[in-house]
Formats: sequence, structure tokens, C-alpha cells
Amino acid sequence: MKAIQSYISEHQERFLSELLQLLRIPSVSANSDHRGDMIKTAEFLMDKLLSIGMDRITKFETPGHPIVYAQKVVDDDRPTVLVYGHYDVQPPDPLDLWETAPFDPVIRKTDLHPEGAIFARGACDDKGQIYMHVKALEAMLANDALPCNVKLIFEGEEEVGSDNLGDFCEEQRELLSCDVVLISDTSIISRDTPSITVGLRGLTYVEVEVVGPNRDLHSGVYGGGVANPINNLCEMIAQLKDDRGVIQIPGFYDQVVELTTEERKSLNLAPFDLETYMTDLEVNDVQGEDGYTTLERTSTRPTLDVNGIWGGYIGEGAKTVLPSKAYAKISMRLVPNQTDDEICQLFTEYFTSLAPKAVKVKVTPHHGGAPAVTPTNTPEYKAASKAMKTTFGKTPIPVRGGGSIPIVALFESVLGVKTVLMGFGLDSDDIHSPNEHYGLWHFYKGIETIPYFYQYYAELK
Ligand code: BES
Ligand code: MN
Ligand code: MN
Repeated sequence: MKAIQSYISEHQERFLSELLQLLRIPSVSANSDHRGDMIKTAEFLMDKLLSIGMDRITKFETPGHPIVYAQKVVDDDRPTVLVYGHYDVQPPDPLDLWETAPFDPVIRKTDLHPEGAIFARGACDDKGQIYMHVKALEAMLANDALPCNVKLIFEGEEEVGSDNLGDFCEEQRELLSCDVVLISDTSIISRDTPSITVGLRGLTYVEVEVVGPNRDLHSGVYGGGVANPINNLCEMIAQLKDDRGVIQIPGFYDQVVELTTEERKSLNLAPFDLETYMTDLEVNDVQGEDGYTTLERTSTRPTLDVNGIWGGYIGEGAKTVLPSKAYAKISMRLVPNQTDDEICQLFTEYFTSLAPKAVKVKVTPHHGGAPAVTPTNTPEYKAASKAMKTTFGKTPIPVRGGGSIPIVALFESVLGVKTVLMGFGLDSDDIHSPNEHYGLWHFYKGIETIPYFYQYYAELK
């Protein structure tokens, strides 16, 4: 281990410059203009995996973006760790809110990152975090000290719902067989309070269209006489929650597993300061479901949110017009044991029922994903916990995460294996937002911690 850790220190400059190269490729999965960049990113990773001595490096084509695979089998008697991550990133928009260009990484100091943080789309989610694994593997392989077999998949469609990963797992069950999945795509509470994510919310995402008259109309000539679909859409949206923040879709909460008083108590022990939270976001108050803390609202409770809404005239100046159509994108975060298909169905029925006769409504489902909880009494959790204890000097606390990684549930159902979510970002790293960044301290802490995971996992398994 000493040799591994000194190798990491010796090569840290190069590790960083390679990551910066990776971040310069705009691998935006949602945008077909970036198809070529997706391939470039996949090939960049394959090249690096080859150079560190991984075997069987393959680019699996899918109907969408390619999946990169690599492995290293050291000994059939050793346990096998499947590392999963994603090389695709969210669109960088809105571009004008970035202080520096999203695909031209720069290092800047911040209050939380006094050593500097890399500002770029994908820096934390998830290129910076997958690259920690590549470099940790490099350090172990260079020292002939990889204690487990490793399989690695990097997909290019996580941010657009991992549509092709399910089929891939089914088809490649044999190739992907493993004892555990290891993912770094989540956060820690802070460098002083390390944490391991033990649950993720699921997701169902829909787009709605409300159509009034067959064409845009003069708002004086027709105004007052026909439905304005934007007004109607707003009224319908307003009926999705009551004034206590409770979602009104019939049956929405039926499958929700309520936490025990004990569980709620321990969850709320995680350090969280509401004042700091509000100051950071420059809000005078928080808002959410009555009867739950902010920590609960953002992790163990389901949500419903409008992600975007549009229609009518939004150009310069004023145009007097009644729009023909209005749209919104609506997401619901799900908790155990809600299922995305059922919730999508319930939403569709309720939303459609809210529409007055004067408008037509269409609900189109986008992607979805199941929630997941990962156990803490497993060798992988213990190995991750011990690894973080070693490198952070403190035992990490288990926390439920509010985001979604739909393949976690999928790995369990298709491959029959559990996942350990050992991420190193901070919630304040602005993933999906302008000025996404990843602290250098966090990047190196991840590289340092991962080899311990392998060592302890091999011992505990
Ligand atoms: N890495 C995130 C998920 C995440 C972030 C989990 C922080 C926990 C803490 C992932 O890349 C992501 O953004 N997932 C999407 C879901 C997907 C189906 C688009 C999400 O949560 O919106
Ligand atoms: Mn991610
Ligand atoms: Mn993401």
C-alpha cells in the first residue's frame, strides 16, 4: 500500500492533466451534434485503460452511445469488483452563466476548495470521479498489487436515462458477473464528515402538452372567450400539490415505505445547518412537504417538480397573443417501493382528469428509474467504510441521497449484485448547473481511498 500511495503522489500532476484532457471533450449525450465527441471520449478512456494495463478493452456499440468495457482478472479465487461510471455529461446550458467555458477546464480556489477546484462540465459528474478509478487502478497495477479482479463499464447515456444499459446487462450477464458493483457518482457531506450513500431516489419524467384553439389568436379579439392553454396548464400544475406540499395524485403515496421513528432520528443526525443551506442558496426560507425536515424532503420523501415550462410569446417587447399550446416538463423523484411505471400511469390519469373540456392534453413519458437502498451490513459497505476511515481519519456516516442512478436497481435485478456508492463530490459542486466543479483535494482523496477499498474488500469477502 505504501508503494501504491507514493506512486499516486509522484504522478499526481499527470493524473490531473489527463483529467483536464478528458474534460475538454464535450460528451453531451443529450445532443446529437456531439455524437462524434461521445466516440472520442469513449476512445480516450479506452486508450488510457490500455496504457495502464487493463485487458479485454472493448467498445460495445448500442443503439445510442457506446459502452466502454475493460477488465483485469488477477486470480479466479479472488472476488470481482465491477466499477461502473458514466462518461456522458449534462448539457452545459445556460452558457452565459458560466464564469469560464464549460469545456475549457480551469482551476480556481473557492471557500470549500482552498487547494483549488476544476471548473468544467463533468468535472464532478462523473468524469472526475470515473478518472479516480482509472488512476487508482493504474497505481495498483503498476505496483503489481491489485487484490481483486476488476471489471469496468463506463456508459455514455446515464444522463439521458441509461436506455440501453438494461439490454446490455442482460446480454452480457456472463461477462459482467461479479461480487459487487462499486460506483463513485455521489457526494460526501464534507471533507470533515465523510459519508457513504446508502440509498437513491427513483425517477419518473414526463412532458405534458396542453392544446387550446387550433392557432395562436389575437388576445383582444378572442381573449376572454376561449381557453388559454398556458393559464390552464398553470391551473393544472397548481392542483398537483396542496398548500402543505403534499402531492395530490391519487395513490401516489400508497407504496411509499414510511421510515421508522428510529430511522428518521438517525437520518437527521447527519450534520446539516439550515442557515448555511439558505445562505448558500440566497433564500429566506425553505419549502417542502409539511412535517419533514429538509434532509428528509431531499432524500427519503418523494417529490414532484416542474423542470421547465414554455409556450406563447417570449421574445422582446410585448405581443398580444393567445397561445395555441403550452408545455411543461415534470419530474417526480421516487422512494422505495414506488415504481416509475405505476407513478407515471397515476400521474397521467390524474393530470388528464384535471383538464377542462376546452383543452386537449397529452402526456408523454420520458425516462424513469427505480429507487434503490444499499445495505450497510455487507463486506462492501464495511470495506468502503474502513477505506474512508483510513484516508479521512473518520468513519463515514451512511446517508440517503436524493439523486437517481437507475442502474443501481438494475444491477441488482439483472446481475443479482449489490452496489456500494462511494462518491467523493460535494452537493455544492454544482453538478448539472453552470460552473460545475470538482475539488482537487476530493479528486486525490478518491484516488487514495480506492486502493484501500480493494484491499479491505479482498480481506473481508
Ligand atoms: N450522479 C448523478 C446522481 C446523483 C447525484 C446521486 C448526487 C446522488 C447525489 C447522476 O448523474 C444523475 O444526475 N442522475 C440523474 C438521473 C438520470 C435518469 C437523468 C438525476 O438524478 O437527475
Ligand atoms: Mn452522475
Ligand atoms: Mn448527473
